[in-house]
Amino acid sequence: MTDSLATVSYIGATILFVLSLGGLSNPETSRRGNLYGMIGMTIAVLATVFGPRVSAAGIPWIIGAMVVGGAIGVYAARTVQMTQMPELVALMHSLVGMAAALVGFASYFDPTSHLQGAEKSIHSIEIYVGILIGVVTFTGSLIAFGKLNGKIGGSPLTLPGRHWMNLAGLLVVIYFGGVFMNAPAGEGVVPLIVMTVIAGLFGIHMVMAIGGADMPVVVSMLNSYSGWAAAATGFMLSNDLLIVVGALVGSSGAILSYIMCKAMNRSFISVIAGGFGTAGGTAAPKGDAAQPAGEVVPISSLETAELLREAKSVIIVPGYGMAVAQAQHTVFEITKLLREKKVNIRFGIHPVAGRMPGHMNVLLAEAKVPYDIVLEMDELNDDFPKTDVVMVIGANDIVNPGAQDDPSSPIAGMPVLEVWKAKTSIVMKRSMASGYAGVDNPLFYKENNRMLFGDAKKMLDEVLVALKA
Ligand code: TAP
Repeated sequence: MTDSLATVSYIGATILFVLSLGGLSNPETSRRGNLYGMIGMTIAVLATVFGPRVSAAGIPWIIGAMVVGGAIGVYAARTVQMTQMPELVALMHSLVGMAAALVGFASYFDPTSHLQGAEKSIHSIEIYVGILIGVVTFTGSLIAFGKLNGKIGGSPLTLPGRHWMNLAGLLVVIYFGGVFMNAPAGEGVVPLIVMTVIAGLFGIHMVMAIGGADMPVVVSMLNSYSGWAAAATGFMLSNDLLIVVGALVGSSGAILSYIMCKAMNRSFISVIAGGFGTAGGTAAPKGDAAQPAGEVVPISSLETAELLREAKSVIIVPGYGMAVAQAQHTVFEITKLLREKKVNIRFGIHPVAGRMPGHMNVLLAEAKVPYDIVLEMDELNDDFPKTDVVMVIGANDIVNPGAQDDPSSPIAGMPVLEVWKAKTSIVMKRSMASGYAGVDNPLFYKENNRMLFGDAKKMLDEVLVALKA
């Protein structure tokens, strides 16, 4: 392939990647967005492998690596459960970080490189910064993977003087950066290794210091880092496409992190500084937040069906438990039935419902729930007082009134779906256990709330049978 054909292919791939991001911004166009991304990536890989910078001798190696990598990717995509997606994503980010670091070392030791003067200095900066970002992403993502799959505890590690330690690490990295830049050719290995070790420890420390409740933001932040690591690799390899794609991933990850911080009412800086959030999934330490008082009123699936049958307006609020139970298809069947009976039924989606951005939208789209009745929290929050029945399916933190009226709650200030304002709310879950943030939920004790205890899929199947009867 000639140089100019490769350049044209890169421009085409860049356009497709931009279109892909645009498509992914809406569930209705997301399939098309994915398709654009796949075509763009195929063009990018072909233009690179058969481009002017790869010798014929290297092609069998590349194809061999692609077959092995592709097989692992296909296996992972087929076997990983939807609920394990965040940890898989974290693991993939670690690979991007590792690749950036390895490319950095390979560029440094490249015997064919004979750069001089300003060009050499710029290339040295690219190598140093590329390895730095790559290693932070690599170790940080591995710890995030461990935290998300429960192999590492979710509580934040708050070492004494940790901010000073980070600052000292940064100063040492800057100092050795100077040493690396001034070292004669081939003698910069020691500063490079010192920086790599510090960057690795920093990545571990950074994510260890972040509590379970902030993990969603961390995953999208690492996504952003992996983009910048790829862009740094692009600079090292003088590959324009990699620079553009890396910048697209880096900036879209940063925007997503910002949106999620807003959704959880957290400041970006305080998330990065760490120390917030509980282990997740366990009750918060007593005394941290006011304990809810009152009685819990259980309800049966028959009674739930009765309430639904009499309702004129219904809102369904899905959460992580719906994903675990794989209840979305039954939810769709119930929705279809109620719509046929002219009930105004809609879905309320919290920005961090489930365990990854868009988790609920993906599940509902998979079950063929029409997009126009799936609404964002802000579009729906004022409608709860006019709603007869709210069905909360395996959600907990995102409907916790304590976030609004208990300043001592660990999730104080996080915007929530105000389901308690409806005439009746029904919470479907297996027990009184807390959700991801580990806090009790006063909603369960409200007078107009009912608890339908059991696995969401099993309970909804029973409700469906009763509705059809
Ligand atoms: P959670 O607060 O985690 O609550 C989920 C509830 O589902 C649990 O209380 C659990 O109660 C119930 N459940 C589990 N399995 C069930 C089953 N088979 N059937 C019925 N219920 C089941 O979920 P949420 O309300 O969706 O809130 C999301 C939380 O995750 C937030 O704190 C958010 O910050 C965090 N988070 C979000 C993301 C993203 S990006 N969305 C990523 C990581 C973390 P039982 O055990 O009693 O059944």
